[in-house]
Amino acid sequence: MPAIVIIGAQWGDEGKGKATDLLGSRIDYVVKFNGGNNAGHTVVIGDEKYALHLLPSGILTEGVTPIISNGVVIDPEVLFEELDALIARGVDVSKLLVSANAHIITNYHRTLDKVTERFLGKRQIGTTGRGIGPAYADKINRVGIRVQDLFDENILRQKVEGALDQKNHLLVKVYNRRAIEVEEIVTELLSYADRLRPMVADTGLLLNKALDDGEIVLFEGGQATMLDVDHGTYPFVTSSNSTSGGAATGSGVAPNRLERIIGIVKAYTTRVGAGPFPTELHDESGEFLRSNGFEFGTTTGRPRRCGWYDAPIARYTARVNGVTDFVLTKLDVLTGLKTIPVCVAYDVDGVRFDEMPVSQSDFHHSVPIYEEFPGWDEDITGARTFEDLPKNAQDYVLAIEAMSGARMSAIGVGPGRDEIIVRHDLVD
Ligand code: GDP
Ligand code: IMO
Ligand code: MG
Repeated sequence: MPAIVIIGAQWGDEGKGKATDLLGSRIDYVVKFNGGNNAGHTVVIGDEKYALHLLPSGILTEGVTPIISNGVVIDPEVLFEELDALIARGVDVSKLLVSANAHIITNYHRTLDKVTERFLGKRQIGTTGRGIGPAYADKINRVGIRVQDLFDENILRQKVEGALDQKNHLLVKVYNRRAIEVEEIVTELLSYADRLRPMVADTGLLLNKALDDGEIVLFEGGQATMLDVDHGTYPFVTSSNSTSGGAATGSGVAPNRLERIIGIVKAYTTRVGAGPFPTELHDESGEFLRSNGFEFGTTTGRPRRCGWYDAPIARYTARVNGVTDFVLTKLDVLTGLKTIPVCVAYDVDGVRFDEMPVSQSDFHHSVPIYEEFPGWDEDITGARTFEDLPKNAQDYVLAIEAMSGARMSAIGVGPGRDEIIVRHDLVD
C-alpha cells in the first residue's frame, strides 16, 4: 500500500483528527507536513478528549511513529508544552521525529502576526496569532531559522541578526513597538537544543525507506483546501500548501507515491476567521448548526461561522487534490432539521456558475442556488452500517456524493472513535 494523504476539503475543522485516529492502528508512520500550531484537532477516545495543535493526531496511537516534516513551522515552546501534556496523561511520545529542515517560529514572528493584523484593521485575516504567516514569509524570503540552526550557535546568531535587521526597523518605526534583542532570541532558541537534538532526523530519507519496505505512511494535512495559499480564498488563507501537493513538497516523498487521497468533508460547512463564504447562515439555522455541532475553535475558542453544504466547493476540492475518497463527518448534527438545503451552483450577478468562480470578486458576490432535501428525526449516532441510517439520511448522503466528485467512503455519526460507518476500506 502506498502513502495515504488526509486533507481538509472545506475551510478546516472537518474532523481530520478523528479520521487520522480511525486509521491509526493500521499505519506505521503519521506525518504532519504543513502549518504549525494554528491547527486544532480534537480526538475523543472513550471518556478522554485530546486537543492537538502542533503534533500529528496519530501520536495518540501506540506503535505509530509520528513525524513533523520539513513543510511545518515549529514553535519549540509549544512543541514541548504539548509533549509534556501528553506525557502527563500517559501517552508514549518517545518515537516523535522532527525534520532538520523544518522552520522555527520565534517570538518576533508571533509579535509581527499580531501587530500586522491590528494594522490591517477592517481588512484583517483573523489569523490565529501564532506567528504562522511571518514564519513562512521568512522561509520564502530566505531569512528563516531552521531546526538544524539550533545546533550551531554561530550560524544561529548570524541568522537571527539577519532576520531582525529589517524587522526591528519595522517594529520601531512603523508599529511603535520596542526592538527585539538578538541575544534574547538566541538564548531562548539555544535553550531548546538539547531536548530537540535526539528527535531530529532525515525524515525524507526515512519515509522513502519505509515506503520501500511496504510500510504504511499517513500524511495528515492541517487546515484545508480553501485555506491553501495557492488554491484557497486568497488572501483569506493560511500561509502553507494544505492541499495534497503540500504532502510531497512538505515531506520529500515524491507525488507519484501519494496514491490514496482522502478528503475530509463536513455534512455542512464552517469557517473561522474572515473571508468569503457563500452558504454562510446568519439566522437560527446557523445557530442550530453551531450549537448542535459545538462549532467553537479548538485553537482560539472563536465561534465558527456556519452554513450549508457547498457542492461546488467539494468538487473543486476533489479536483485540486485528486481526492479518491471522502470521509463525510458530522452527519448526526443535521438530525432534527425539516429540510436540508445544499448549494448546487452559484448565481453571480445574474449569471449561473456551476463550478467555483476563479475570480475572488465573483466568489465574494456568489449567491448559492439551493436544492432542498427532506431531513430526519431519528438519532443516528448508533448507526454502524449505511443501511442503519434512516432513508432520508441515506438519500442525503447519496445526493451529495453524486455532486461531489468522489465516493463517500466513511460517514461520521458522532465524535467518538467508533461513531463511524465505513462503506469502503480506506487503507486497502
Ligand atoms: P480538524 O481540525 O479537522 O481535526 O477538526 P476539529 O477537531 O477542529 O473539529 C472537528 C470536531 O468535530 C471535533 O470536536 C470532533 O470531535 C468532532 N467530530 C468529528 N467527527 C464527528 C462526527 O461525525 N460527529 C460529531 N458530532 N462530531 C464529530
Ligand atoms: P485545522 O487544522 C480552521 C484560519 C484562521 C485564519 C486563517 C489564517 O484545525 O483545520 P493563520 O494563523 O494560519 O495565519 O490564519 O486560517 N485557520 C484555520 N481555520 N481550522 C484550522 O486548522 C485553521 N488554521 C488556520 O482562522 O482565518
Ligand atoms: Mg481544527
